[in-house]
Amino acid sequence: MSLLDLTGKKILLTGGCGALGIPVIKLLVEHGASLLVIDILSEDDALKTLEQQSINLENITYYQTDITNQKQVQTLFSELLNLKILPDVVCCHAGMSKAIPIQDYPLEDFDKLMNLNQRAAFIVAQEATKHWLAQNIGGHLIFTTSWVQDVPWPEITPYNASKASLKMLMRGFARELAPKGIRANAIAPGIVAAGMAKLQLENEPEYKSRAEKAIPLGNLQSPESVANSFLFLCSEMADYMTGSVLLVDGGASLYPMDD
Ligand SMILES: NC(=O)c1ccc[n+]([C@@H]2O[C@H](COP(=O)([O-])OP(=O)(O)OC[C@H]3O[C@@H](n4cnc5c(N)ncnc54)[C@H](O)[C@@H]3O)[C@@H](O)[C@H]2O)c1
Repeated sequence: MSLLDLTGKKILLTGGCGALGIPVIKLLVEHGASLLVIDILSEDDALKTLEQQSINLENITYYQTDITNQKQVQTLFSELLNLKILPDVVCCHAGMSKAIPIQDYPLEDFDKLMNLNQRAAFIVAQEATKHWLAQNIGGHLIFTTSWVQDVPWPEITPYNASKASLKMLMRGFARELAPKGIRANAIAPGIVAAGMAKLQLENEPEYKSRAEKAIPLGNLQSPESVANSFLFLCSEMADYMTGSVLLVDGGASLYPMDD
């Protein structure tokens, strides 16, 4: 049997209807996993989005949940417990970004970003942890950070800071909970030609050449490459990993800056 076989694994993914979430769901389902997809979209919109991408919905359960709202996250996990479908793997993946120079960055946008990228990830990871501990079972947390967790890419400073914080949250969960059989790791993608980076690609004429210059391998990352990282980390192949960052960035973090 393949070490990448995920049959029987229940994987929860926040932000599942986003540009990177979709290929991740597709690949994990193809490898036999059952997906608990969380997003803020209505159920109708979410299922339409997934269907449009030719995703087989058979092994997917969708829960509309605003993960910045602790009560909604608590209700979600109580329901999963009642249905006996507590996840084995919880991916704290939802996030947002906004490119604005530091001097102009509105404080309310800073708060909104931290609320989703950092605080909501903590809410979800903490709730999963509470349930795993109460049931005396292990679990695996996967946080989506970014190569900019370690590199101050200009004009997204609050985003960089949120991802640096998420990396340390991951290491804290890993360190504190390893004796209880709970692991935590992170996936740090580079500059992906999809989702939040695509917005910049479309709206800022110089962004593509600036981005490509910053990537030693020379081309923007594909969403499928991010999905492959999820497959690996969710699989048995990564069973001995905890407290690690899987950095998949085409070497972007090797350069001190784009120019
Ligand atoms: N696209 C990139 O270049 C890139 C690079 C590195 C890391 N990342 C990270 O990958 C993750 C996903 O990025 P993406 O490009 O797919 O973004 P995206 O904007 O396409 O998707 C984000 C998803 O999160 C959902 N969401 C937003 N607020 C929510 C809330 N309160 N509760 C539940 N769901 C909510 C949105 O509805 C959306 O479906 C983020 O954490 C991002 O920081 C992206």
